[in-house]
Amino acid sequence: MRIASGRAPSKLILLGEHAVVYGHPAFAVPLAVPGAEAQLAGADRCEPVVVHLEDFKIRWEFGLPEPAGELLPFSRLISSFLKSNPKTPKTGWRLSIRSRIPIGCGLGSGAAVATAALRALDEAFGVERSPKSLSDEIYKTEKILHGTPSGIDNTVIAIGRPVLFRKGKEFESVPAPNSPLHLVVGDTGIRHQTVEVVSDVRNARKAAAGRYDSIFAEIGEITLKGVQAFKKGAGRTLGKAMNENQGRLAAIGVSSREIDALISAALDVGALGAKLCGAGRGGCVAALAESSEGAERVKEAFKAAGAKTAFVTGILGQDIEACARS
Ligand code: PMV
Repeated sequence: MRIASGRAPSKLILLGEHAVVYGHPAFAVPLAVPGAEAQLAGADRCEPVVVHLEDFKIRWEFGLPEPAGELLPFSRLISSFLKSNPKTPKTGWRLSIRSRIPIGCGLGSGAAVATAALRALDEAFGVERSPKSLSDEIYKTEKILHGTPSGIDNTVIAIGRPVLFRKGKEFESVPAPNSPLHLVVGDTGIRHQTVEVVSDVRNARKAAAGRYDSIFAEIGEITLKGVQAFKKGAGRTLGKAMNENQGRLAAIGVSSREIDALISAALDVGALGAKLCGAGRGGCVAALAESSEGAERVKEAFKAAGAKTAFVTGILGQDIEACARS
């Protein structure tokens, strides 16, 4: 075993959430910041394996009864790792996990911390794993957190590239445009429970299937148009797709007063597009700005409109410094 570390990015669903649950395409990008990291270090050989979630200040020792809450995905991840790699020592190491990704707000915090943890485990114990196998393992932890997730979070975070995703199908990796994308995220400060919002939408659809299905189909079409615009670096068209998508998300009842306030603030200062991201009913709003100056204006507008936090970011792999300079 060697000292090892693993990292993973946050993500934004730029287009297509909720509709993706019903088989339509969605488009997600990994973000340059914020991210999660895990460190695996050796300890005395007699000591049990310890998992430490630094942000929550909670620890769990392997061998104790299965934990509840935030620790459960990690205990399952480690059990599954030990089962698949039976030569791994069952004592004498510690896994510490840290994340700067706000929780429960559509940025994929759960999938990111689990991905960082598994990368650290793989590196420490010399396990070679394909991105697809990484994504599949993380999907299991996503199911613990979110019930029946579409799988978009674990896919984009494990693959680390923009993806056009369809539930149950092979994903398509989408090349990022040469020109940097100026993304701004504003957090309403309201933590959403993906399971609850998805279940509310499912119930509402039962009562009005025709209406909901045609909205989902429209979201799917908007997503495909938006992806073409993304590939070409056509910010205005992509921003328009985000706005159109937001209109449909509001129509299915997953927007909120706080989300709408942040969106209006971003559009008022010139954002090319803005929408909720993830499950909605709180969580984060993502805006696309035309330039780094425009992004700073949107960030300040988010804060003035009541965002708990707001930050400028870009796509993982695109030089974020260049995003700020250009
Ligand atoms: O809020 P998040 O990051 O859990 O994203 C939810 C996205 C949904 O499309 C609403 C659900 C899903 O499983 O894809």
